[in-house]
Amino acid sequence: MAESIQPLGRTSFGNPADAGNVMTETEALAFLEEWVPNEKLRLHMKQVGAVMKAWALEKEGLPEAEAHKWWLAGVLHDADWEKFPNDHCRVIVEELERRHIDPSVIQCIASHGPRHFGVEPQTTMDKMIYLFDELSGFIHAAALVRPQRYEGMDVKSVQKKLKTPAFAAQVSREDIQDALERSGQSLETIIPFIIQHQQQVQ
Ligand SMILES: [Fe+2]
Repeated sequence: MAESIQPLGRTSFGNPADAGNVMTETEALAFLEEWVPNEKLRLHMKQVGAVMKAWALEKEGLPEAEAHKWWLAGVLHDADWEKFPNDHCRVIVEELERRHIDPSVIQCIASHGPRHFGVEPQTTMDKMIYLFDELSGFIHAAALVRPQRYEGMDVKSVQKKLKTPAFAAQVSREDIQDALERSGQSLETIIPFIIQHQQQVQ
């Protein structure tokens, strides 16, 4: 992330009256095409969305409508990064507020980088996007250097790469550790979950 990113300077997002208001899958994907020309970045966002939704359904036991909010937050979290690198997060948060999107989705997006945006993850949804964001990108980078990509990828090989500072050096190991502690999750649970749920995303 650009070093010049400013913290958001606030801790409350969206309007409670907008609760339940979301973009449909079609609307969100069209929004992504418009806002994010970079295909690789779009793939990253769709992967985080898929993993978020799968976690909401499988691990939190949430109904489809709630899980859709987790997907939406994942799929939109970096929507402003490419076009507004110095205002990353602020622009997308304000755009979603203008569109009257559910406040939990906006707060989740605002929580995806506490060290950068100065927003503390509060809900499980907030904590999981923080954790999935860093690890999803890392695991995808690990898959790309294997001839068989995701096939047969195991937890230990990912953990070994995490201990190799030169591999995907831009991924902050400190943030991963922080996100694990905040969410109460372990790499042994999270890594296979991500491998399983993001590999089929295109
Ligand atoms: Fe991201």
